[in-house]
Amino acid sequence: MIDTLAISTQPTVATRLPEVDFATLEFGKTFADHMLVVDYQNGEWQEPHIVPYGDISVSPANSALHYGQAIFEGMKAYKNQQGEIFMFRPYDNFHRLNSSADRMCMPRVPEEVFMQGLVQLLRLDAEWIPSFDGSALYIRPFMFATDGMLGVRPSESYRFMVITCPVGLYYSKPLRVRFEEKYVRSAEGGAGYAKNAGNYGAAMYPTKMAQQEGYNQLIWTDASEHKYVEESGTMNAIFVIDGRVITPALSTSILDGITRRSVLQLARDWGMTVEERKVSALEVLEAQANGTLQEAFGVGTAATIAPIASIGHQGEDYALPTPPADSFSHRVSAALAAIRSGAAPDTHGWMVR
Ligand code: COI
Repeated sequence: MIDTLAISTQPTVATRLPEVDFATLEFGKTFADHMLVVDYQNGEWQEPHIVPYGDISVSPANSALHYGQAIFEGMKAYKNQQGEIFMFRPYDNFHRLNSSADRMCMPRVPEEVFMQGLVQLLRLDAEWIPSFDGSALYIRPFMFATDGMLGVRPSESYRFMVITCPVGLYYSKPLRVRFEEKYVRSAEGGAGYAKNAGNYGAAMYPTKMAQQEGYNQLIWTDASEHKYVEESGTMNAIFVIDGRVITPALSTSILDGITRRSVLQLARDWGMTVEERKVSALEVLEAQANGTLQEAFGVGTAATIAPIASIGHQGEDYALPTPPADSFSHRVSAALAAIRSGAAPDTHGWMVR
């Protein structure tokens, strides 16, 4: 990739790398040495800066804090077997960030700011990209309002930033989930398809309730009837029923997950039947009862593929069979890992150097 954009860089005086134990990484707690900072003022994006990772100062009246004008992305970078650095489908994240920006009345981030900012940041923090199985450098681009103004209207100034953290596996074992039939993550016509901060904040209380009952995560259902599956926790949900790969169709209340897209593409490549449509909780429970529910799993950038061990519904837990080694979730997980490491050809051009 060609560097075209001037990005002023202030390197750290002392790397924190020697303090990091890569074997015991907890998701999102250890940050690489540098971060990208770009301000939007007077209707224009200003010069990007790369500076040492650290606290920032903002107006206490900014509308990200008060009214949730804040969006983010989750993406990953990997080192292949030759030590070269690749990002997984970064243009997809770039387009989704700008779709979220539109929904939240925020300015679009120019492609060269996003891509060149990432490239230069990753080059500087290349040593932070782990290469053991299941690891990656998690990349968190985000944008928030910066006007110091309490009026409820879109801010006029914003900050776009990128921070990164080395990560291992997000979930260490298959999940116990339950259908949520009281609270909703998002409704049709809401902002569920956008990756805005408020979607995640509002999900915390229902998730905490489920965790107090011993579940790891929820399966969100639709806002009007609580009948149809939406997402699972912070991931898209996929079911394998009678050999068919079934997932809720995208809507204004469902995030257009990039791992979701990739998993469905691989299923299609392998000649499997893929159904993107409404999936009712009843259909899933009936398939569990008659033995045709072969697999259920969540898919997302942070977790990649998170198998579901049991699904709770109205106080009962329904166990899923342990997926065999040749199950779809194992094969798709291995296929994605092979594409990322360079062990398998990247036929769809997902890896960007
Ligand atoms: C991701 O998978 O990147 C997510 O957005 C989930 C979560 C860590 C917020």
